[in-house]
Amino acid sequence: MKKVVLITGSPRKDGNSKLMADCFDRAARAREIEVKRYDAVRLSMAGCYACNDCFKNGSACAVEEKFNELAKDIMDADGIVMAAPVYWYSIPSQMKAVMDHFHAFKAAGKSFTGKKCALITCCEEDDANAMRGFEYSFRKSMEFMDCHIVDEIMVPGVKTEGDIENTQGMERAAALADKFLIA
Ligand SMILES: Cc1cc2nc3c(=O)[nH]c(=O)nc-3n(C[C@H](O)[C@H](O)[C@H](O)COP(=O)(O)O)c2cc1C
Repeated sequence: MKKVVLITGSPRKDGNSKLMADCFDRAARAREIEVKRYDAVRLSMAGCYACNDCFKNGSACAVEEKFNELAKDIMDADGIVMAAPVYWYSIPSQMKAVMDHFHAFKAAGKSFTGKKCALITCCEEDDANAMRGFEYSFRKSMEFMDCHIVDEIMVPGVKTEGDIENTQGMERAAALADKFLIA
């Protein structure tokens, strides 16, 4: 059974990125993929303190306890999906705080080799270039971790909760599940 960690990062109950994440989640479970879901907003983590005590006392992070269960699931997973909106042409801070803690894996010599990952994001502007900051950071970071990117679902022109329903975003997010089935 494949296992995917899904990390969401919108504070809105029915946010556009969250609705896409829900579609991915449902489609993945329907394909008997085990989905471990985390909400970066609820985790409300601080960023990395660069103490470099990662994995030294059994847990991934010596400072941020909340990261440790997520870290275990990520190490066990076949895939990682990050679903969050664009904030200020970049990654929302709650999601960025989670990503900063990926330093623990690198510091402890643990790569994501053999894992797959995908990005789901959206923004208000009609110009898709508004998502380039988020996408660049995601892509370079995942490549640095030797993680294979299977898709990037990036939907411009959505502002109000539910706007995503007028795009292909939810359909594409559901179809993404298949990409985690292939060996
Ligand atoms: C703090 C904040 C910053 C934002 N910055 C941008 C931005 O730089 N570019 C943009 O196109 N949209 C920006 N937006 C709009 C959101 O990306 C857009 O409303 C998106 O659909 C929200 O996703 P969600 O519904 O999943 O929360 C911003 C929204 C907020 C609240």
